[in-house]
This record gives sequence, C-alpha cells and structure tokens, in this order.
Amino acid sequence: MGCGDEILTEKLLQLVPDRRVVEIDDSVGMLSEAKKSEKENLHFLVMDINDMDFSDEFDLIFSNAVLHWVKNIKNYL
Ligand SMILES: C[S@@+](CC[C@H](N)C(=O)[O-])C[C@H]1O[C@@H](n2cnc3c(N)ncnc32)[C@H](O)[C@@H]1O
Repeated sequence: MGCGDEILTEKLLQLVPDRRVVEIDDSVGMLSEAKKSEKENLHFLVMDINDMDFSDEFDLIFSNAVLHWVKNIKNYL
C-alpha cells in the first residue's frame, strides 16, 4: 500500500518471484514510474487506500512510510 517509487516492491518481488504482487498508490505520477517496470506478476492500481474494498484477496499486505498519511487510519488497525 502506497508503493511510491517501487524500490521496496522490487525487493518484495525478489522474495516471491512466483507470486502475484499488486502495488497501490494514489499518485498518477507514481503510476508512470511503475509502468516502466511492469512485469507479468506485477500489477499497479491507482487507488486511494481509503477506497480499498478487498476481501481475502492477499496473503500479505506490506506498507512502509505511508499509513501516517491516511486519514481514516483507525479502520486498518
Ligand atoms: C513516503 S512515500 C513511501 C513510498 C514507499 N512505500 C517507500 O517506502 O519507499 C508515501 C507514498 O504513499 C502514497 N500515498 C499517500 N497517501 C495515500 C493514500 N491515501 N492512498 C494511496 N497511496 C497513498 C504517496 O503517493 C507516496 O507514493
């Protein structure tokens, strides 16, 4: 969640090369950066974390240096 420039996503992909990784960020600017490194198992969603509506979709959720920006953070704790 809030993948930013993908440096950490790249490390996650190295840990799980045979799994699907979905990056979420609400910055369109970040999307254009992410598109440069598009891979078969890497997907990017331009989405506000507050609008996420996933249910039992992921085995692991990772976020770094993001949640303090999210207004309704209590919904995720
Ligand atoms: C400080 S950067 C951290 C990027 C990356 N996680 C890292 O550790 O390098 C914060 C990122 O969170 C994204 N972000 C902030 N609020 C968000 C929200 N409500 N929904 C989705 N992304 C958000 C910003 O666009 C930005 O790319």
